[in-house]
Parts: sequence; C-alpha cells; structure tokens
Amino acid sequence: MKRIGLALGAFCLILAACAGNDSGTTEESTNSTATTSTAETPKSEGEILIAKSDCIGCHHKVNKVIGPSYEAIAAKYENTPENVTMLAKHIINGSKGVWGTIPMTPHANTSPEEAQKMVSYIMTLKK
Ligand code: HEC
Repeated sequence: MKRIGLALGAFCLILAACAGNDSGTTEESTNSTATTSTAETPKSEGEILIAKSDCIGCHHKVNKVIGPSYEAIAAKYENTPENVTMLAKHIINGSKGVWGTIPMTPHANTSPEEAQKMVSYIMTLKK
C-alpha cells in the first residue's frame, strides 16, 4: 500500500513538471508570431490603391479569378515605362482580347497617376 502511495506521489510530481514546461512553450510560440506580424513590409501606395478599388473582385495576387493574377501580369510584361503607361491606360479605358474573351471594365474615375502606381506595384510581383 505504501509503495502505491509513493508511486502516485512521484507521478503527480512528474505531471506538475510537464504542465509547467507546456506553458513555457506556448509563451514562446506566441512571442514568435508577434514578431512575424510586426516584421511585415509596409504596403506600397499602389497596393493600397488596388485594395481600395474594385480590382479585388476580378483579380487575385496569385490566382486567376475573372481576370489574370497580378503575378501572371507581372510575368508577361517587361517592367518598362512604356508598358507601365500602356497597362495604366488599359486599367482606365478597359481592356479585352489580351488574356481571353472576358473584358476588363473601364475605370474612368482612376487617374493616370493612380493607375501607374497600381501597375508599378503589380510589376514588383515579378519573380
Ligand atoms: C470586371 C472585372 C475586372 C475588374 C473590376 C478589374 N479587372 Fe483588370 N482585368 C480583367 C480582365 C478580364 C482582364 C483581361 C483583359 C484582356 O484580356 O484584355 C484584366 C486585365 C488587367 C490587366 C492586364 C491588361 C493587359 O493589357 O494585359 C491589368 C494590369 C489589370 N487588369 C489591372 C486591374 C486593376 C489595377 C484593377 C482595379 C483598378 C482591375 N484590373 C479591375 C478584369 C477586371
């Protein structure tokens, strides 16, 4: 009988030690998540403009939605001033026939400066 009591006692001690260790690891992992989120790069002006516009309804950074992904656009065109101007015009005036049969609606309220900032951001996604 005495032996069982001792064994139980030891078991409880081990359990307590384990529980203590567990909470230690949780704290560590919480800390590392906090560091990652603060280390995120700040968003560029073009990325913010895109986020505020309706682009998100048809475009995704890496996946084709209704329109091509931004990464696909960045891969297709050289990052030259001519291409940036041309693509900015396509955003403002609309575009069709380049990627398929679905047209992109015009964005008459987007200024050429804003559209160029959006294209400049898209070009940063080139791999
Ligand atoms: C109604 C859906 C829709 C919306 C909203 C939309 N797009 Fe598009 N976008 C498309 C489609 C479809 C294409 C492919 C058009 C084509 O084949 O010519 C496209 C093509 C593009 C291209 C490539 C043009 C080219 O000549 O290769 C760029 C750059 C682009 N979109 C940026 C944007 C930005 C920035 C916005 C937000 C201001 C936006 N799009 C909003 C559907 C959309």
